[in-house]
Amino acid sequence: MNIISVKDYKEMSQTAAGIIINKVKSDPSITLGLATGGTPKGLYEALIQDHQTNGTSYEQVHTFNLDEYVGLSADNPNSYRYYMVDTLLGHLDVALNQTFIPNGTAEDAEAECERYEALIEQLGGIDLQILGIGRNGHIGFNEPGTPFSSKTHVVTLASSTRQANARYFSSIDEVPTHAITMGISSIMNSTEILLLASGEDKADAIYHLLEGTVTEEFPASILKNHQAVTIIADEKALSRTN
Ligand code: F6R
Repeated sequence: MNIISVKDYKEMSQTAAGIIINKVKSDPSITLGLATGGTPKGLYEALIQDHQTNGTSYEQVHTFNLDEYVGLSADNPNSYRYYMVDTLLGHLDVALNQTFIPNGTAEDAEAECERYEALIEQLGGIDLQILGIGRNGHIGFNEPGTPFSSKTHVVTLASSTRQANARYFSSIDEVPTHAITMGISSIMNSTEILLLASGEDKADAIYHLLEGTVTEEFPASILKNHQAVTIIADEKALSRTN
């Protein structure tokens, strides 16, 4: 794993944006894997700013998001579809029908998982996947104990994950109990992976990722077996690591 150590959240965001912008310029029809949450917001702002200032085009880009809450529709401000349009996609020149997120309101969630996995394959796989990391080592919504062989599937969210995400909802009771997530093997099939981590909240997770063994009890640890992972982490996230 290639580790880029940066000062703070801003530098993490700008460094990640620089890498992605170069990739999009050299391969305008790249397929990007995207994440939601707090971590990539600064990155997305930087991509929008570059698009507006320098005209980097996303017309031919396709995107796949990692996950979506079960039960939340695209017009629900807490859905990841809403977040993506609001935070990034709606500000770029990519047609929204080239951007894919699991459908959290599909009648048959299992069938939706199969459809999503097949769609990623049909489009030739993900060239560059952006990841955040949960405090318990989750990637996507793959909680500890998820088989490394998992493909896109329905998950029951860990209570720690629901609590961490409750800040976006008016109460914890409103946080959905289930989500659809790309599986660990779906993520590992990406050609390249860029994992971002900022802040002391992530220090334990980054310590386990860098120093620990590969175990399903810490989902992100599988990234050690991927041939092209870059971690961009700031001083606080790296504070437990030598
Ligand atoms: C988001 C996702 C999650 C987050 C993780 C970190 O699509 O799949 O794995 O990346 O929970 O979240 P933040 O960035 O809010 O700390």
